[in-house]
Amino acid sequence: MRQSLENVRAHVEQSVKGDIPTLRLRSGVELPLLGLGTWGFGGREARDPSNDDTRDIRAIQRALEHGITHIDTAEAYAGGYAEELIGKALVGIPRERLVIGSKVHDAHLAYHSILGAAQASIDRLGCEYLDLYMLHGPSAQVGLAESFSALNELHSRGRIKSVGLSNFPLEKVREAEALSLAPLDFVQLHYNLSVREIVETGLLEYCQKAQIAVVAWRPLEKGKFSPEQVAFLKPLTDKYGCTVSQLAIAWLLRQEGVATIFQTRNEDHLRENLSALNIQIEDGDYCALRDQFPGTLSRSYSRPLS
Ligand SMILES: NC(=O)c1ccc[n+]([C@@H]2O[C@H](COP(=O)([O-])OP(=O)(O)OC[C@H]3O[C@@H](n4cnc5c(N)ncnc54)[C@H](OP(=O)(O)O)[C@@H]3O)[C@@H](O)[C@H]2O)c1
Repeated sequence: MRQSLENVRAHVEQSVKGDIPTLRLRSGVELPLLGLGTWGFGGREARDPSNDDTRDIRAIQRALEHGITHIDTAEAYAGGYAEELIGKALVGIPRERLVIGSKVHDAHLAYHSILGAAQASIDRLGCEYLDLYMLHGPSAQVGLAESFSALNELHSRGRIKSVGLSNFPLEKVREAEALSLAPLDFVQLHYNLSVREIVETGLLEYCQKAQIAVVAWRPLEKGKFSPEQVAFLKPLTDKYGCTVSQLAIAWLLRQEGVATIFQTRNEDHLRENLSALNIQIEDGDYCALRDQFPGTLSRSYSRPLS
């Protein structure tokens, strides 16, 4: 493991932070267009003692070796254990080269709970501050004003650099903008070729106009596009000489203000997904994917916005 860590350090030292193009958020944080998701690392809702932790740590280190610097996680992932694994993977990596994002669980949105949750995430990650911090989803119990009083404090104390939301509907995004002392920088949402809720609700267009970055989660629909959808993509994957996953990522990144995070433990998939950055989808093809892709869902099946 020691040799492997030195290897990672050497690669990260060499890689210029700009290897992956970035979106410059209004806070000044440079958000890479592609980042690594960590849902399932270390377990699902709770830590899984039978999980192969070495495999997950290695997956994070390999992503760093390939130029990924944005790591997405949440206190809810494996009950906080995913953050611990990331902390282990990042030992010795210059902090300023990383863009670490985490989320506070919907059940912890009261003022003191957020302050405690943020510190616990920072401690587990061993990272001193979070580049990106977001509310994981709305709470029926706690109003946004209370949550933002904590986020504003964390931001003013330098514990979080950029403030965002995840899985909030348009009216709540507007409310949050008014409550946040720092610019509301980003919203993390379920968005891909198949799931179009944020288009239907106008949230995507609103964010693009307001210069709020959209970070699309589950860009590959977990690698499970339907046979009909894959058949629709075939002429385009042939034309661009790419895979379905690459086309799915390139389609997202073709859109103004959109970045994305995918999850993989597989090095071939990692390379494949990163190569999506080289695909320039022509206007007509982009529109065909936008307007004619079969079987699209107008609501997220996983975290619908209302
Ligand atoms: N804010 C939220 O509420 C929320 C919700 C869900 C997810 N997220 C974040 O978004 C991240 C990504 O979403 P996700 O993990 O649900 O889904 P995803 O990235 O769309 O799909 C991940 C799955 O696709 C496979 N895969 C990756 N690259 C592939 C390729 N090139 N070809 C074929 N299969 C490939 C991976 O397995 P292999 O290991 O075999 O590659 C993995 O099983 C999460 O990890 C998490 O950080 C946020």
